[in-house]
Amino acid sequence: MVNDKMVNPIVIAIDGYSSCGKSTIAKALAKFAGYTYVDTGAMYRAIALYTLRNRLTETADIIAALPHILVGFIQVDGEQHVTLNGEDVESQIRTLEVGNQASRISQIREVRAFLVAQQQAMGQAKGIVMDGRDIGTVVFPNAELKLFLTASPEVRAQRRFDELLAKGEKPDFDAVLADVNDRDYRDTHRAESPLRQAEDAVVIDNSLLSREEQMDKIIAIFQNKLNGQMTK
Ligand code: DC
Repeated sequence: MVNDKMVNPIVIAIDGYSSCGKSTIAKALAKFAGYTYVDTGAMYRAIALYTLRNRLTETADIIAALPHILVGFIQVDGEQHVTLNGEDVESQIRTLEVGNQASRISQIREVRAFLVAQQQAMGQAKGIVMDGRDIGTVVFPNAELKLFLTASPEVRAQRRFDELLAKGEKPDFDAVLADVNDRDYRDTHRAESPLRQAEDAVVIDNSLLSREEQMDKIIAIFQNKLNGQMTK
């Protein structure tokens, strides 16, 4: 059904809070649909890493550096890795420090414009699942399917805590929870493209859903969409 040549590929926009499992779901949905997956958070994180490495703290310096920053994606053992000026930086970008810096630099209008243009170009041929904060509202306001994922801050902090632990870090739960709350605040209160739910997004609170339950739900929504049915 999904591979039926008569079905036109669509754009799927997935937005939501940090650590609510967006990328896991987006990846699985892209695989199911045979679509390209783009993790836009990784693009902001790659720029954040560049600014940390080059000790750029002033907004003007960060804006001036943009022409020297090339963000891309490569496939490594079937997994998508983000590249920064040709270097695979996938493991370096997944730290709390880079996440926090990404949240900061993503408030700069010029940084957003720089990445949004690249994201829109990636989606021109459709057949794409893109996740982030502004995909359904700014990058692809006409996306055929918009999902907004959410979960309680405690559930998201626990997931982030477990991830950091698995990576060999020694996280403190209260610090991780405070970080989740801070990041939510910054993501939803910034002047430039704050995180908000698109009016036509399907909202999924996954606090109490297993990954499988959530995936079943989302695949059903996707298939209904392809069948041309209203799914809200
Ligand atoms: O999804 P993530 O945690 O990898 O994102 C890192 C930061 O990047 C997040 O705090 C907000 C920002 N971001 C954004 O502003 N817009 C996007 N489309 C994706 C991420």
